[in-house]
Amino acid sequence: MNELLLRPVVADDLPTFFDQQADPDANYMAAFTVKEPTDRAAFMARWQRILAEPTVIIRTIVADGEIAGSVLSYEEEGRPEVSYWLGRAFWGRGIATRALAAFLADVNRTRPIYARAAKDNAGSLRVLEKCGFAVVGEDKGFANARGAETEEYVLALFAAP
Ligand SMILES: CC(C)(COP(=O)(O)OP(=O)(O)OC[C@H]1O[C@@H](n2cnc3c(N)ncnc32)[C@H](O)[C@@H]1OP(=O)(O)O)[C@@H](O)C(=O)NCCC(=O)NCCS
Repeated sequence: MNELLLRPVVADDLPTFFDQQADPDANYMAAFTVKEPTDRAAFMARWQRILAEPTVIIRTIVADGEIAGSVLSYEEEGRPEVSYWLGRAFWGRGIATRALAAFLADVNRTRPIYARAAKDNAGSLRVLEKCGFAVVGEDKGFANARGAETEEYVLALFAAP
């Protein structure tokens, strides 16, 4: 992968995002997901709300001209948090790390900025670590994708990377 860019989301991205977020293995990894990731109508309604929400900033990740996934920030109890999701075909090529680094450098420079990941989501935790995040706490809650109470780390980035 050579060229990576972040651009605003367009309506044509949504069917690709839907397919990417419906992947069962990706859901297990992320753990804290929606209840019915294969419900297309619910997905479209949710994304219309997300895209209209003023505190949410989302970018489509384009890798060598293909829609690789999305990276976003939202506010959780007034604190900005980042998250990201890549289509499975794009995993393991450094794309999440590059996309999150670009998002933090060019799109949302608010600090501190936070993130969460299930304690066993090694890929996501490594992406965050490579972007300068450090674990600042832990939490647990019911994870829809696992049907069970699941532990997660809370991480923070305090300074510009
Ligand atoms: C987690 C996710 C974003 C990682 O994306 P990615 O583009 O494959 O990550 P990168 O290629 O940038 O990898 C960064 C580092 O993590 C490591 N890594 C990636 N996936 C991994 C995995 N499943 N297990 C262990 N390490 C992993 C890579 O080896 C790399 O480490 P290194 O540079 O030390 O070799 C992607 O798998 C995904 O979208 N998963 C489903 C949704 C999700 O979990 N989102 C995050 C919610 S908190």
